[in-house]
Amino acid sequence: MSNILITGANGQLGNEMATLAPQSAANHYFLTDVAELDITDLEAVRAFVQANRIDVIANCAAYTNVDKAEDDTATADLINHKAAENLAIVCKEADAFLIHISTDYVFQGDKNIPCKEEEPTNPLGAYGRTKLAGEQAIATVGCGSLIVRTAWLYSSYGNNFVKTMRRLTSERDQLSVVFDQVGTPTFAGDLAALLFKVIEEQLYLQHTGIYHFSNEGVCSWYDFAKEIASLSGNSCDIQPCHSDEFPSKVKRPSFSVLDKTKLKRDFGVTVPYWKDSLVICIRQLEEKANQTV
Ligand SMILES: NC(=O)c1ccc[n+]([C@@H]2O[C@H](COP(=O)([O-])OP(=O)(O)OC[C@H]3O[C@@H](n4cnc5c(N)ncnc54)[C@H](OP(=O)(O)O)[C@@H]3O)[C@@H](O)[C@H]2O)c1
Repeated sequence: MSNILITGANGQLGNEMATLAPQSAANHYFLTDVAELDITDLEAVRAFVQANRIDVIANCAAYTNVDKAEDDTATADLINHKAAENLAIVCKEADAFLIHISTDYVFQGDKNIPCKEEEPTNPLGAYGRTKLAGEQAIATVGCGSLIVRTAWLYSSYGNNFVKTMRRLTSERDQLSVVFDQVGTPTFAGDLAALLFKVIEEQLYLQHTGIYHFSNEGVCSWYDFAKEIASLSGNSCDIQPCHSDEFPSKVKRPSFSVLDKTKLKRDFGVTVPYWKDSLVICIRQLEEKANQTV
């Protein structure tokens, strides 16, 4: 039996991991968020890992507010970079394995071909820079690690584009959504299923390093919004617009499609198409809404 520490268990991905954890017959999962274990506190992480004989840490914790990270870069750096380094240091000391989640925002995203793992990074903003610094710190510490970069994450938990668009397209008659940023949505339930498989089947013993994971397919935020509205039964008139119509401090990648060839080959997984996973998430949101009335 292995002891698995999940950090950031109250987040989108962490919640999805928490729903899978009870299905494990082989391992014991410790579900923590900042209240139980603040990963910016090196001594606290060290004490937790030692006391509970942790074998694998799956780090689902992060500072994910891309806009706020521009003004609050120190906090973003503490959580996305320094805390990732803390986890790596403790994993190295305890001979534990670190599974860490990173982002498509480490890339500039100015090409029109899917990004492979080894392509040069060049983040456009503070969030991406701090996440890249986290990846680099893990590599420098040199613990056993698997870093999974993902993109456009959503789930029935937390705040995300799917929930925002469901609300806005039910409230408004007309809405403009950018069509000049292209990527692939990722249902956090699918990413959690991948991580759960990697942990339960101990695939991390054979495959380490950086991997890319998103759902299959490609779309713009406009296409994503149209599909969300359609599946939600909302008849809002959604029009495509350019990013510069929404002034922002952060420049976002215009093409951030991740190439998943390496992940599918090494882990033997089939990745769901983004529209199929969106159907599942919308169904979950409807079930939750029905439970609250
Ligand atoms: N969301 C996206 O679109 C997206 C895209 C690409 C990659 N990713 C990556 O995917 C991973 C999961 O993202 P997510 O959307 O599930 O994140 P999320 O919903 O923002 O959840 C992150 C969780 O980490 C917690 N946390 C923050 N500081 C902490 C600390 N010091 N110690 C312990 N926990 C702490 C947060 O608590 P509070 O809420 O209280 O701060 C929150 O519960 C992250 O690595 C993220 O960078 C996300």
